[in-house]
Amino acid sequence: MQTADINNNNNDNKNNTLKKDNIEYLEVELLRSFIEDVFIKLNLSHKDAEIIADVLITSDLRGIDTHGVQRLMTYYERITNGIYNPKTKIDIVTESPTTAVIDGNCSMGHVIAYNAMKLAIKKAKKYGMGAVAVRNSTHFGIAGYYSLMAIKEGMIGIVTTNATPAVPPTFGIEPMLGTNPLTAGAPTDDRFPFLIDCATSIIQKGKIELFNRENLYLPEGVVLDHNGNPERDAGKIMKDLRNYQAALMPIGGEGGKASGYKGYGYSTLVEILSSALQEGVCLKETAGIEENGKTYLKVGHFFLAMNVKNFIPLKQFKKNTGKIMRSLRKSKKAPGKKRIYTAGEKEYEAESERKKIGIPVGKSIQNDIKRIQKELKLNKYKFSF
Ligand SMILES: NC(=O)c1ccc[n+]([C@@H]2O[C@H](COP(=O)([O-])OP(=O)(O)OC[C@H]3O[C@@H](n4cnc5c(N)ncnc54)[C@H](O)[C@@H]3O)[C@@H](O)[C@H]2O)c1
Repeated sequence: MQTADINNNNNDNKNNTLKKDNIEYLEVELLRSFIEDVFIKLNLSHKDAEIIADVLITSDLRGIDTHGVQRLMTYYERITNGIYNPKTKIDIVTESPTTAVIDGNCSMGHVIAYNAMKLAIKKAKKYGMGAVAVRNSTHFGIAGYYSLMAIKEGMIGIVTTNATPAVPPTFGIEPMLGTNPLTAGAPTDDRFPFLIDCATSIIQKGKIELFNRENLYLPEGVVLDHNGNPERDAGKIMKDLRNYQAALMPIGGEGGKASGYKGYGYSTLVEILSSALQEGVCLKETAGIEENGKTYLKVGHFFLAMNVKNFIPLKQFKKNTGKIMRSLRKSKKAPGKKRIYTAGEKEYEAESERKKIGIPVGKSIQNDIKRIQKELKLNKYKFSF
């Protein structure tokens, strides 16, 4: 089996995550419409279906193949199995001019997150800052989508979510923390904003799932088994993750060798922001909470919008951030390296490219699409596979 390039760092753009064989390129608007119709058939409102489709399509367009249409089957199964409530209901628990705690009632995470960031932005427009903590939510996809919402309004957007246990603390082997993304972005005067959008573990589950679909091995040092030995087979890791027998290493890796305690510390901060501010589930509780004879997969999130113009004119800020980005990209390259990137750049390039060529889907995602299409009788769609 081939070893996966887990961070695409040897590639010039993000269009190489999937193996080239068996790939079909789907027209963006066709796939968007299909995803919307899937959720409408599952009893979501048109507006909510549009939001989820937009998050998934944005993910695929930006080259984040792990969180786009690849996730459709998971959501489909969770709704049909009654784990997610398709009718999103959001309650405000407490509110002040600049803060709010909201309850998502275990409905659709993307819709809850979209509305939470909208509320944070509304507060930041009026008072300069808006922070919203969310309890009883579910998987919301790419955290960067919600930071981008703030960036589009001339704001800095910071987003966190906790997730099911997969990452042990430094010197531990028991999965306690989720892959806990910490996303932060700011507008620039470049063609694209600064947006660091990633997990606080070396690898997140979506990539392992994708590598399993593609029959790829992981490099050493990324995942350990419950005895602390390296685990590389993506299929076995997927199974072991379900039983909490596989441990994904935090950024920096195992122990203190490459300062893994830094990734562990940032992941803990994500856990605090995503749970402690709203009495939500934390750590192992994200594995599922039993209520009324059902297991609910709950998570919490945190959204912060900071209105730049309350600090400095937006144009000046964009010039400042753009200067930082350009200086970094122009700095001296390491031997053999052709190019330096800034965060958000590869995703911008993937988006420009995929808007033209379409969204690549491998064989196993094609099979997911065919199964859902058949079961929901969405016969009006004609795919080439
Ligand atoms: N909802 C959840 O529970 C959950 C959990 C984990 C991750 N995620 C999402 O998964 C997605 C992927 O996460 P990931 O950890 O696989 O990300 P990743 O390891 O692919 O890193 C992506 C980030 O690194 C930047 N980057 C990549 N190469 C770079 C380079 N050479 N120079 C500068 N910057 C560079 C990108 O611009 C991007 O911001 C994210 O959108 C994240 O929000 C969601």
